[in-house]
Amino acid sequence: MKLNKQDILKALETISAPGEGKNMVESGAVKNVVTFADEVIVDITINNPSLQAKKKTEVEIMQTIHKLVYEKAKITVNVKVDAPKKSAPNVIKGKAIPGIKNIIAVASGKGGVGKSTVTSNLAATLAKMGFKVGVLDADIYGPSIPIMFQVENEKPLAVNIDGKSKMKPVENYGVKILSIGFFTKPDQAVVWRGPMAAKALNQMIFDAHWGELDFMLIDLPPGTGDIHLSIMQSLPITGAVVVSTPQNVALADAKKGVAMFQQESINVPVLGIIENMAYFTPEELPENKYYIFGKEGAKNLAQDLNVPFLGDIPLVQSIREAGDVGRPAALQTATSLEAAFEKLTQNVVQEVVKRNTDLPPTEAIKITTMAGCSAVKK
Ligand SMILES: Nc1ncnc2c1ncn2[C@@H]1O[C@H](COP(=O)(O)OP(=O)(O)OP(=O)(O)O)[C@@H](O)[C@H]1O
Ligand SMILES: [Mg+2]
Repeated sequence: MKLNKQDILKALETISAPGEGKNMVESGAVKNVVTFADEVIVDITINNPSLQAKKKTEVEIMQTIHKLVYEKAKITVNVKVDAPKKSAPNVIKGKAIPGIKNIIAVASGKGGVGKSTVTSNLAATLAKMGFKVGVLDADIYGPSIPIMFQVENEKPLAVNIDGKSKMKPVENYGVKILSIGFFTKPDQAVVWRGPMAAKALNQMIFDAHWGELDFMLIDLPPGTGDIHLSIMQSLPITGAVVVSTPQNVALADAKKGVAMFQQESINVPVLGIIENMAYFTPEELPENKYYIFGKEGAKNLAQDLNVPFLGDIPLVQSIREAGDVGRPAALQTATSLEAAFEKLTQNVVQEVVKRNTDLPPTEAIKITTMAGCSAVKK
């Protein structure tokens, strides 16, 4: 008896594939059929990893071929289990935001280390370089982005987009801004509960008209809590930047921050660590450096954790003053601070480029070269 593949496939078409309303051949479960003389080898892939399911499939195939094709056929069934792979949760859970290419979360662990200062200066520098930038201030405990961009008295307007009313981000220095601070009274302490905060943030993300953005920076609240999780679960975050001072207490929290992003269930690539307040320099003696919070602590932490070190920013009075008057220090042209923030920003962009090249997209579109970055500069 000479068996042929067509007859075998026809027989296998009478076996239904679990849960799909299709037969085993249609569903693609049958990967290969080889026949020679009275022998047949069937390669099959099933999703159910249980031994019982494997056995059942095997028996069913044998019985069917014996019954419908040739009762003495010598049958080998190779069953492979291909359980559905878990994709990175940020990819499946995060709804892509049309037009937003890269979302960068700025986090710290410890409070007061300079997340908002770094976020605002990165954003201002990116805008200066010619990128389209937005900042989402997600700090429910102390939104400071409106002050740092001098828009604290503004309110986002409503615009009509395709028949839907959307929030229009406020804009300054070429940076689009939405902040949880726009929805609370400045002198009123608001205790946001997790779900409420998550809802407000979701509205600022999905019910807003951000338009096209190369980068959206999210200024996260300090810590590694509920709100961080809910943001990471609702957004396809391209990568996270962790800010720390060189001080031990800050480093311990920065470490927790990095660990939070790297958790299997969160899986947000860490673009790197930034050392803020790395040393103090008096304005009149720029060569003198005083390592008041310790030296190179964040740089060493980056090395220990095997994540990129993105650069350091000194502790200088004009950074604080610039924050308070609402014009990021990075916009002071021809200063060493402008240069420091440019260097830092370029490193961040470079890590984003690398990340987009090396890892599957979280709906991120690639900025292909650093050359592209400097080409649009100024
Ligand atoms: N490099 C710096 N030099 C001088 N002052 C700085 C520097 N970085 C931050 N500051 C100042 O330190 C204070 C805290 O910074 P910032 O608000 O950016 O920290 P944060 O991590 O966002 O704080 P929070 O956890 O409260 O959100 C601000 O007054 C800011 O102006
Ligand atoms: Mg802050």
